[in-house]
Amino acid sequence: MNINKIAVIGGGTMGNGITHVFAAKGFNVFLCETSEELYAKALKTITGNLDRQIKKNIITDEDKVSSLSRINKIIGVEKIPADVDLVIEAIYENKEAKIHIFKTLDKIVKPDSIFASNTSSISVTELSSVARADKFIGMHFMNPVPVMKLVEIIRGYSTSDETFSMIKDLSIKLDKEPVEVFDYPGFISNRILMPMINEAIFALMEGVASKEDIDTVMKLGMNHPMGPLTLADFIGLDVCLAIMEVLYNGFNDPKYRPCPLLKKMVAAGKLGRKSGEGFFKY
Ligand SMILES: NC(=O)c1ccc[n+]([C@@H]2O[C@H](COP(=O)([O-])OP(=O)(O)OC[C@H]3O[C@@H](n4cnc5c(N)ncnc54)[C@H](O)[C@@H]3O)[C@@H](O)[C@H]2O)c1
Repeated sequence: MNINKIAVIGGGTMGNGITHVFAAKGFNVFLCETSEELYAKALKTITGNLDRQIKKNIITDEDKVSSLSRINKIIGVEKIPADVDLVIEAIYENKEAKIHIFKTLDKIVKPDSIFASNTSSISVTELSSVARADKFIGMHFMNPVPVMKLVEIIRGYSTSDETFSMIKDLSIKLDKEPVEVFDYPGFISNRILMPMINEAIFALMEGVASKEDIDTVMKLGMNHPMGPLTLADFIGLDVCLAIMEVLYNGFNDPKYRPCPLLKKMVAAGKLGRKSGEGFFKY
């Protein structure tokens, strides 16, 4: 099967980026949102990001026009065309909501199409158990999608070799760097990143160093582009906590216990950049 027609479910931060890169590489994309307003918002973001790429001489005006012409509006998952070759789900991080989408689509979309989820932390094996497990895979793009090269491809327990190689080849066509990851909590990216952030918060809580100095150590000493506390603010402290809980519960291992200071800040509504204050003020 050739993958030409793609459905992207959800046009938020990740969904609009995923739509952007597929449309730019010549794929026909059906972008699905829940309302006209949210669809318009997603398209406006994509248009703005294409304009930014024109200014940076990455693409031409004609590229922008042709990319936008390949994006098709869908309001409501039940309207997804049956003949799409690949569905990429990028709705909010909620297992029940994602399962509902895949169950619905399993009845609509032709049986040989591939189903992918962009989940950051939910078990791909668990999601795949409700629809075509051998053709189900995790396709974990990074934010911002048009800029970041990595795609973590997560193999669920029953994902077939054929499905994996099709998604790997497709990622290369998108000019991304795919890595193969087996389905365990946090995959690779969050299993390594989140405990590092959590440890930085423990260090702050214990008074080992100031928040500024903790970030400086990791920026100047380890060459990280951003310190872990700034990064936590950027990701959202509620998202960091949710992912630590996935690791803690998924492995039943106390080494992943979320830092009490992280829990306290989330309870206080200090969620980082999006709430105006986290470890730093915005
Ligand atoms: N934000 C990140 O940095 C990041 C990075 C990697 C992976 N992820 C994962 O990507 C997924 C999406 O995250 P996000 O940050 O883009 O979320 P978001 O909240 O920005 O966007 C989700 C979008 O899905 C839409 N939606 C919800 N239910 C829908 C439905 N039934 N049909 C169609 N659209 C629907 C919402 O209207 C919203 O626009 C999550 O699973 C998240 O864990 C996020």
